[in-house]
Amino acid sequence: MAGGYFQHGGVSFPAILYSPRSLEAAREFPVEDDDVFNVTYQKSGTVWMLEILSLIRSDGDPHWCRSVPNWDRGPWLETVLGLRRAKANPRPRLISSHLPIQLFPKAFFSSKAKVIYTVRNPKDVLVSLFHFSRIFRPYKDPGTLEQFLHKFLQGDVPFGSWFEHVRGWLGLRGAHNFLCISYEELQQDLRGCVERLCGFLGRELSAAALDAVVANASFAAMSRNRMSNFSLSPLFILDLRRGPFLRKGISGDWKNHLTPEQSARFDRVYRERMAGLGVTFPWDPPPDPPEGETTLGTPPEEEEEEETPPRPQEPPQP
Ligand code: A3P
Repeated sequence: MAGGYFQHGGVSFPAILYSPRSLEAAREFPVEDDDVFNVTYQKSGTVWMLEILSLIRSDGDPHWCRSVPNWDRGPWLETVLGLRRAKANPRPRLISSHLPIQLFPKAFFSSKAKVIYTVRNPKDVLVSLFHFSRIFRPYKDPGTLEQFLHKFLQGDVPFGSWFEHVRGWLGLRGAHNFLCISYEELQQDLRGCVERLCGFLGRELSAAALDAVVANASFAAMSRNRMSNFSLSPLFILDLRRGPFLRKGISGDWKNHLTPEQSARFDRVYRERMAGLGVTFPWDPPPDPPEGETTLGTPPEEEEEEETPPRPQEPPQP
């Protein structure tokens, strides 16, 4: 594996595919008002969302998705080749990016272009990225999961810290041209998410077209589609002999990989780093009941009579 990184704006990038110049050019990218950006922290469902957006654009017709590789349909803005392709593509353009918000094209912030930001349970992102780092040759070998967990929690991985990425982008929530959607919501209700996306994009799809988007964006359909499963990617970039890009496509795979101790360590960092954000994600544990509303665990009525006297002074149970 090649595995050489350079730093840009405090974030690591692999030297194959990216360059300081391509990142500077991405920052200066001439954004058009009808651009649609598919933004994620890596391994959060980028190519899934790209497939959905491609299909919405085609009214559910899979022809475009089956004839043009995904990296040309929605090129990654920050790569040397993706930047060129994004500039050359006809409008309205679909553009993908893993950039943290502080490195994103400046012109976006004064445009009407739209960002769809897909988030995923960071424990699943960790596991997916761990496997991906073994097949994606520009990345360093991840070592053991324990070693990789340490680096991930420190933000010492390409594209930097998951926590900073998500916090940065979610600062835009409430903006008319920003939509955040989670991988878990896509899993639970893909059709509902497609409808939400259509509403955000101002597209009206018939029921049949919606069905076609859902069918063609399934894990099985994408795994079969050579334009979406990266089997056309050169071996020096992606070594699919070591595992597929579309690996499992499920939520909660972290439970098969992290020990209870590793999971608890992750939770501690997560709580610290996400404190005060004010967003509840599908993977967050249910909140504690508000203070004062917790009860002492009142026993069933018949037993209540035996429990005399009650103990109102006892502090509420957590
Ligand atoms: P796993 O490695 O957990 O399987 P990205 O596109 O951001 O690199 O994310 C890749 C992850 O999204 C992989 O996760 C991949 O399998 C999953 N994915 C891609 N398409 C999917 C689909 N149609 N349904 C479910 N998961 C999908």
